[in-house]
Amino acid sequence: MKFLSLSLLSISALSTLVSASPLAASIDQLRVSASETERRLIQISEDSPAKWMTESDKESLLRAGIKFMDITEYPEPSVSSLSTEWQPFIPVKAEYQDEVLPFIGNLTTDTMKANLQEFTSFYNRYYKSSYGAKSCRWLIQQIRDVAKGYNHVSVNEFKHSWDQFSIIARFEGSNKDLNDELVIVGAHQDSVNMWMPSFGRSPGADDDGSGTVTILEAFRSLVHNGFKPERPVEFHWYSGEEAGLLGSQAVSRAYEQEGKKVVAMLQNDMTGYVGAKGPVIGIVTDHVDEKLTDFLKTLVDNYAGIPYTLTKCGYACSDHASWRKVGFPSAFTIESAFEDSNQHIHTTGDTIDKLSFDHMKEFSKVAVGFSVELSHVRK
Ligand code: BES
Ligand code: ZN
Repeated sequence: MKFLSLSLLSISALSTLVSASPLAASIDQLRVSASETERRLIQISEDSPAKWMTESDKESLLRAGIKFMDITEYPEPSVSSLSTEWQPFIPVKAEYQDEVLPFIGNLTTDTMKANLQEFTSFYNRYYKSSYGAKSCRWLIQQIRDVAKGYNHVSVNEFKHSWDQFSIIARFEGSNKDLNDELVIVGAHQDSVNMWMPSFGRSPGADDDGSGTVTILEAFRSLVHNGFKPERPVEFHWYSGEEAGLLGSQAVSRAYEQEGKKVVAMLQNDMTGYVGAKGPVIGIVTDHVDEKLTDFLKTLVDNYAGIPYTLTKCGYACSDHASWRKVGFPSAFTIESAFEDSNQHIHTTGDTIDKLSFDHMKEFSKVAVGFSVELSHVRK
């Protein structure tokens, strides 16, 4: 035990010295072997009890395609009564076309290409690797550059017990009575190589570099074209999704505990691959809010240039599940029907050449529509 804590101490001291060197990968490797003694509480379905597992058991789940939530930090269901008492109003019709369309007209694939090129050039974006820590610092800088000079927009780190922080960009609302309400558009920033999670190469172009740049482009167009929402709107880039929705669980629990009221959350995880059946927007129908998902269909009809197809993704498929778990309405768009989606994810083969930026832009349109339409108060 003494040896373990001593070696951990020297590992972290060493990492600061050599974070940019080739030694970084072997330090990451050492960190992992040290954490092998730790056990994590893992849930693989809504109705089976959670089980204690090692990191390598978790890695086996990922390789086997078994979806899971790592609930070690949140073993109990949330206790706040707010989420059951407070019912947000979800509209059924799109009514703000005049406001939405100029933002859509200003979306461009140029910035998405440049951003994804850079983002996938990090060796990996594993949540507890030194590369993952570097990639989040690069990402927050891009988001800060977009928001610079706009006083009603803030960009903050949401820190975790591992090095890759989640990122929260926020438009303040003009109606101060609605200050504790919000609309969230999210994606996950981390990537994983399922064969060698902590030190394997993992470009994560589609999973979820595509969602990351999709929502960044929606955010850019909104900021630069004068979006001033009635209620606050936030863009989130989560850390640690691939390790069991870790970042989004931390953020959603914190928000719920602070008494924030999430009107709606939209996750964008994998938006770049065009499936065999041609370009469509996959709307996930399982483990999501039904009313919000119906409204999402309307948004695709109104604002995207391609049709939607309904599909299922399974338990704990992505970060929308963390919001649902604490009682807030969440919905989820993906690149195709689940069975037609990119088969190269979680490997070195998840690269940009397999993706379409025009496809990603369709998801940016929907994200813009979602932000504007739901930022208004309707009854
Ligand atoms: N991006 C995937 C989920 C996904 C897969 C979306 C295929 C659309 C099509 C996500 O990052 C992921 O890998 N989820 C894991 C579960 C996670 C909690 C470890 C999975 O699907 O196995
Ligand atoms: Zn993934």
